[in-house]
Amino acid sequence: EGADAEVIPLARGSEPVHPPAPAMPALREQREELRAHIVEGRFEGIRRQHSLGKRTARERIELLLDPDSFTEVELYRRHQASGLGLAENRPYTDGVIAGSGTIDGRRVFVYAQDFTVFGGSLGEAHAAKIQKVMDLAVSTGSPIIGLNDSGGARIQEGVMSLNGYGGIFRRQVEASGVIPQISVVLGPCAGGAAYSPALADFTFMVRDTARMYLTGPDVVEAVSGQRVSHEELGGADVHGTYSGVATVVHDDEESCLDDVRYLISLLPGNYLDPAPPNPSCEAHRDKRPRLAEIVPVEPNRPYDMREVFAEIADDGEFFELHAGWARNVLCALARIDGRVVGLVGNQPVVFAGVLDGPASQKAARFVRFCDAFGIPLVTLVDVPGFVPGVEHERSGIIRQGAQLLHAYCEATVPRVQVILRKAYGGAYIVMDSRSIGCDLSLAWPTNQIAVMGAEGAVNVLFRRDLAAAKDPDALRGKLVAEYTEEFMNAQYAAERGLVDDIIDPADTRAALARGLAMVRDKRKAAPRRKHGNLPI
Ligand code: HXC
Repeated sequence: EGADAEVIPLARGSEPVHPPAPAMPALREQREELRAHIVEGRFEGIRRQHSLGKRTARERIELLLDPDSFTEVELYRRHQASGLGLAENRPYTDGVIAGSGTIDGRRVFVYAQDFTVFGGSLGEAHAAKIQKVMDLAVSTGSPIIGLNDSGGARIQEGVMSLNGYGGIFRRQVEASGVIPQISVVLGPCAGGAAYSPALADFTFMVRDTARMYLTGPDVVEAVSGQRVSHEELGGADVHGTYSGVATVVHDDEESCLDDVRYLISLLPGNYLDPAPPNPSCEAHRDKRPRLAEIVPVEPNRPYDMREVFAEIADDGEFFELHAGWARNVLCALARIDGRVVGLVGNQPVVFAGVLDGPASQKAARFVRFCDAFGIPLVTLVDVPGFVPGVEHERSGIIRQGAQLLHAYCEATVPRVQVILRKAYGGAYIVMDSRSIGCDLSLAWPTNQIAVMGAEGAVNVLFRRDLAAAKDPDALRGKLVAEYTEEFMNAQYAAERGLVDDIIDPADTRAALARGLAMVRDKRKAAPRRKHGNLPI
């Protein structure tokens, strides 16, 4: 006689209850219906978003990622708050779509704020979702991309919203130098929320729809009486040209997100991995005679350094950062022989390529990014010096120039310097000279490396003789010729070991490629300490 299965009552005297289980297909159908409903979004909100010239969060993710590659997390998450009518209004997703997908087959993490839900405002659950994908990005060593479109801290959730922002900022700082962080501003990004793009490695903005400011036009008017539009106060061009907060500016979301894909193709997933090489690029050792045509021999004739970048980079292609800000220095990512490098160059067509405060900061941040992520640095030098002037001194050019100096001195990645024409004074030292640690210094035969230009030097050294001379101009001419002959020639620095080779301009690309190959496996430990004290 077999024993009957024992049924244990839940409590004394109560009968166990077995409600009929719904069939799996029915469950699945309900689930799919709900999911489809959430993913579809609210028609009114989407219509309004489109009428503002903006894509929805899901449309943006679709543009950004490879087709069908998105895996979403926490679709069903809702806020648990109840103040100010929130208890009756608990939309799924809580206003942010978060997850992971691929770009050219490489994993990235992404979050996109959904302006159609509470204006994309950030509450506790919303913040927790962003923090979750940030944590996953760090633990899997993948870039994180944030698509921002938000009214800021969700007012109804009070201080919990601020707490949410703080948790995001802390994670961004902890992830700095670990994984690349990209912030894309596609709508409002006001108040403290703007610190998230500011902490990212790269910030993209779209004209007319993106805006970033700590206080909006109403507050500005109340405080200062000044009337200013959203666009004038915090539009893409303001941050792409004046403040330097935006790294890249676009006219529309499509080209913007396409450019984010391009940038990702040049970045490593994390600081331990190499940036993806392009194996199809062969080692080109051909002559580039155009280089000598681009750069005039006369030291003061301007030319566009971007043309030099294009001659040196694989396929003539490079990704310029901060193209509209501090234009007297150029920073770009490119490939040489298929491997990613960071190009830094003075830009003689803007203020004769002098270094000022913003240019120093722009280059410093770029050098630090490249160093953090193992990207070799190529520095193309043609610099008359640091800019003189009362305003520049007052606004701290010493401090800002020191930031660039600090950045280069600290960099342990392979570093190659090419001096095209002139390199004077402190600017010579700062632009990755031998003395601050470049591994290889190449110079064109036209190079003039000196403490200062010949005229200036003669005026300082022979002031008395010139004042006493019968024909000061003739004497000055003679002394300038002597100084030029003695100091301002290609050979002087090379004979003293400060320049490794004087090269034919047409061989610049080939010499760079060989030089980079020579120092490719460079390993240099940073000194043991908690961290240096960057002169910020
Ligand atoms: C809750 C918000 C919200 C917010 C917008 N909404 N911002 N809900 N908290 N911060 C809601 C609106 O009530 C509205 O809901 C919907 O989102 C769309 O907003 P609209 O105002 O209709 O849109 P629009 O006219 O396009 O204006 C967008 C806007 C404006 C410029 C962003 O909404 C705005 O000024 N919002 C407030 C911005 C703000 O002051 N945020 C707090 C900043 S302080 P319905 O239900 O009508 O659709 C901050 C501190 C962060 O962020 C500190 C971090 C350290």
